Amino acid sequence: MSTRQIDIGLIGSGFMGKGHALAFTMVPRVFDDLIAIPRLRLLADVDPETAERAARELGFEGASHDWRNLVAHPDIELVDITTPNHLHAEMALAAIEAGKHVYCEKPLALDAASALRMAEAAEAAGVVTMVGFNYLKSPAALAAKRMIEAGVIGDVWHFRGAFNQDVLADPKQPFGWRFERGLAGAGALGDLGAHVLALALYLVGAVEEVCAHATTVIEERPEATGGRGYGAGAAAEAPLRRVENEDSMQALLRFSGGASGVFETSRVATGRKVHLTYEVTGSRGALVFDHERMNELELYESGDAADRRGFRTVIMGPEHPYYGRFWPVAGCGLGFGDMKVIEVYELLQGVARQERVRPDFRDGAEVQRVIETLLISAAERRWVSTKEAAGA
Ligand SMILES: NC(=O)c1ccc[n+]([C@@H]2O[C@H](COP(=O)([O-])OP(=O)(O)OC[C@H]3O[C@@H](n4cnc5c(N)ncnc54)[C@H](O)[C@@H]3O)[C@@H](O)[C@H]2O)c1
Repeated sequence: MSTRQIDIGLIGSGFMGKGHALAFTMVPRVFDDLIAIPRLRLLADVDPETAERAARELGFEGASHDWRNLVAHPDIELVDITTPNHLHAEMALAAIEAGKHVYCEKPLALDAASALRMAEAAEAAGVVTMVGFNYLKSPAALAAKRMIEAGVIGDVWHFRGAFNQDVLADPKQPFGWRFERGLAGAGALGDLGAHVLALALYLVGAVEEVCAHATTVIEERPEATGGRGYGAGAAAEAPLRRVENEDSMQALLRFSGGASGVFETSRVATGRKVHLTYEVTGSRGALVFDHERMNELELYESGDAADRRGFRTVIMGPEHPYYGRFWPVAGCGLGFGDMKVIEVYELLQGVARQERVRPDFRDGAEVQRVIETLLISAAERRWVSTKEAAGA
């Protein structure tokens, strides 16, 4: 194993901050061909106590209450942004200006123009970037892509994708950054739907036109009185705040390659947990994925003998991308965090080799353009071309 080292500066230590730190810790143990070892150098969060506690718990050498110190730190080679959405652009642009490579959570920015600015700045500076669309890194998604490219399902005719969750379905779940337009941008669409859009672009190709409908079913929520992120709580008598973005969206998509699509996302989908699903229908077969059964891919091939035709369940194993790096036997199963391990593996290899990795800021900006188009469509209640979004 190489002794080349990449010093990581992580900003934010919530749900995703922990996820990224775990992935960086795991990656050298899973991938024995890693050419650069991550060093958890510095963690920044909003105040000294939070930053120091998180640094200690997640294994970072140092802590700062000011992310600008982290970006300016000469040791840091890769800046990792896991803060709420409104901070991504400012932090990434500062990191790029300081010559750092940048790993940023999705959605890339609040709007398409900012996302495009980030992509252009990164390309001009020649730094490597990656956006945390981790569902693209599950062995099943990578296997689906490989099968589509090999023509297993023929020409792609149709995409059906959804990300439904009930994590915010309780009206007592307090108001937090995810409900505020200035901090989150879109609601369920940016938080959950963005992942499905990234998969749609990856598996099927560019989206040309959309027609969307959005709703907010829980219009007010209590102010948080403690905790953060999904773990926040509210006192019974807490004042109410108006929710500023959509709880759910349904949409039709038209892809530039001619395929059509249906898209749905909800953060109030009672009973659904991480119900990220997609179905790609082609002229000779179809593929179906459900993240709640993330180690399975359903495959239908029209070429099968007529009396045996039907969807079959392919259980992920060493024959599928990256699975064998974790376990030698099919069916052991990978989990959510393992997608992040694969994501940071590709990122570190790219940084060490100074090569483009995907999905990068350009890909993230493309997703942002579709998000913006969907929001215009829902607001104006009409079909909208993605050319109408900023950044087209
Ligand atoms: N890829 C995924 O599957 C996935 C899952 C969840 C969240 N996310 C994304 O990750 C990002 C963070 O979401 P989360 O759920 O971890 O949020 P969170 O609220 O749990 O954590 C956010 C963290 O950022 C810190 N922070 C806020 N302002 C800061 C500042 N100015 N300087 C330094 N730190 C600051 C907070 O203190 C907190 O530690 C969002 O963009 C979200 O969309 C991605």
